[in-house]
Amino acid sequence: MEAYHHIAIHKETLEPAYPAKNSKIPDADGPYSILHMPALVPHSEDPDGLPLIEGLEEWQKNDLLATVLFPHFLLAFQGTSVVWYQVMPSSVDRLLLRIHFLVPKALRDLSNIDEIAEGAGALLSIIHHEDIEANDMVWEGLKAPVTMQGRLSPLERSIWQLNQWWLSELSKTGS
Ligand SMILES: [Fe+2]
Repeated sequence: MEAYHHIAIHKETLEPAYPAKNSKIPDADGPYSILHMPALVPHSEDPDGLPLIEGLEEWQKNDLLATVLFPHFLLAFQGTSVVWYQVMPSSVDRLLLRIHFLVPKALRDLSNIDEIAEGAGALLSIIHHEDIEANDMVWEGLKAPVTMQGRLSPLERSIWQLNQWWLSELSKTGS
């Protein structure tokens, strides 16, 4: 839920199209966070071979939005599709992630829909394996004996919003 890591982790995949420095995280008045990643240039064609969803404004056609309803209902939107990240925590250090690629129902009749879905799956796999490799290293670092929390970048505002939600939930239980 931040684009700060695009600079290093996705420097050849997401960063050229959605530069971290342009990302925005609006104020939230509820248990959610929105990460708005403006496209550097408008898409000249649909990157995944799917038609744009009708009725979208120009920024909605081009930009990438990652959203979370705390703690872990995650959806990412772009002009042609939605990606649902189904996170199923199983313990303090383990989770199962299922990534679902969602398109309008009418597109199931496209003759090449299987090919498009395979292409989208392959791209998502490349991008998220970049994340997983980095996250594994972050997790190792977090468990190190001298690890301390550093200051967050303004580009990591979603993490601060999640932390505010945690604090609020903990105060409700008196923990
Ligand atoms: Fe990532």
